[in-house]
Amino acid sequence: MEVISHFKFLIILAAFVGALILPSKAQDSPQDYVGVHNEARAGVGVGPMQWNETLAAVAQSYADQRRSDCNLIHSSGTYGENLAKSSGDLSGTRAVELWVEEKANYDYPSNTCNGECGHYTQIVWRSSVKLGCGKARCDNGGTFIVCNYDPPGNYVNEKPY
Ligand SMILES: *[C@@H]1O[C@H](CO)[C@@H](O)[C@H](O)[C@H]1NC(C)=O
Repeated sequence: MEVISHFKFLIILAAFVGALILPSKAQDSPQDYVGVHNEARAGVGVGPMQWNETLAAVAQSYADQRRSDCNLIHSSGTYGENLAKSSGDLSGTRAVELWVEEKANYDYPSNTCNGECGHYTQIVWRSSVKLGCGKARCDNGGTFIVCNYDPPGNYVNEKPY
């Protein structure tokens, strides 16, 4: 899944929203991440995900590795993976909301994306029932967020649900 082109947009949008709207409350708890994922899944009739500490530990470990550069580089792990970054602070909740907003680019009947929608299709991938996320504040002041999914989704020529 090639997602890098979308991220310039994410950075700008996240920084803008972060300055104006985000409350000071962190919104980075497991319930925060799970809640936004499961709201999107319920909206299309897909069952919930559950937080998984193994995945969360892998995600946090990878976020910590990106602290020094904040680059949107995928880990080489075996789980499904969504990444987001911001030049400033970014809540976990808001990162997941930005991925879910790609729903507007997804056409279910033809199973195609008009633009980027791979983060969204991973979120609503029916068999991806385990979730774990991590967040790091980068040395340059930015934020790096990663969510891992098991089993992974986004298999070519398969519909998410
Ligand atoms: C968490 O996920 C890992 C990887 O899929 C799995 O091996 C483990 O059993 C899960 N833990 C729980 C409590 O479900």
